Amino acid sequence: MENNHTSPTEDSSMALYVHWPWCKAKCPYCDFNSRVPIDEPDHKLWLGAYIAEMEHFAGLVGKKPLSSIFFGGGTPSTMEPKTVAGIIEHAERLWGFQNDIEITLEANPTSATRQLFEDFKDGGVNRVSIGVQSFNPEHLSFLGREHSAGQARTTIEDAVRVFPRVSFDLIYALAQQSAARWEGELKSALDFAKGLNIGHLSIYQLGIEPGTPFFRDNVKGAPEDDSVEMFDLTQQLTTDYGLPAYEISNHS
Ligand SMILES: C[S@@+](CC[C@H](N)C(=O)[O-])C[C@H]1O[C@@H](n2cnc3c(N)ncnc32)[C@H](O)[C@@H]1O
Ligand code: SF4
Repeated sequence: MENNHTSPTEDSSMALYVHWPWCKAKCPYCDFNSRVPIDEPDHKLWLGAYIAEMEHFAGLVGKKPLSSIFFGGGTPSTMEPKTVAGIIEHAERLWGFQNDIEITLEANPTSATRQLFEDFKDGGVNRVSIGVQSFNPEHLSFLGREHSAGQARTTIEDAVRVFPRVSFDLIYALAQQSAARWEGELKSALDFAKGLNIGHLSIYQLGIEPGTPFFRDNVKGAPEDDSVEMFDLTQQLTTDYGLPAYEISNHS
């Protein structure tokens, strides 16, 4: 990588968001711009398209150092590491990086191994955000997730060995989840995070979004009163564990 870094004290920086719309399976609650490809995406073609897009935007916004790059999706852990590295390299050439740039990639436990994490790190990624949703096998199955709780834990442990910063996502306020049950589940997730020195969690209430199988099948989340109780509990417990909310669903 070029030595094209600038000081974080410069006041005009930018952040780059890179969207990878492909997933191995479509979860029934998810209305993100994500889909399952019929054939393996043409990674070389995609890299060329990202580069063309970045060049287009560089022409519009000019040269300001990047403070953050976020690979979101979809499931960016299904990208080839050389595609990710190629985008990072080109972004640095176009804009330059602040010294403390954070480069995050979203990962799903079904497509993330320690070796893959090492390869992403070699390409410049320094943080991962892992979609776990739950450590409860029944909830994982209800949410249509294709990994077990054990696989999710292993993925997080692998990530912590490779990256200085790791986050994971949880979903709560399911109809079958009382506040008492959520309290036990969240405490156990927070204990696990604390044991690994994880400093960031995204904790979302289940949303039933138009256009999703859950919406079509009239699946319900928890009743409103229970959701409120679970939300308050989430704020309290995360604060007690030193990870208070800095935004409605994000804790650090
Ligand atoms: C792009 S995904 C994360 C990475 C990867 N695709 C995965 O699912 O493992 C972003 C996150 O949004 C959250 N999410 C998506 N749809 C949601 C919904 N309807 N209600 C609550 N959270 C949702 C999930 O926690 C998910 O992990
Ligand atoms: S939650 Fe993640 S893996 Fe599931 S469909 Fe949405 S983007 Fe894909």
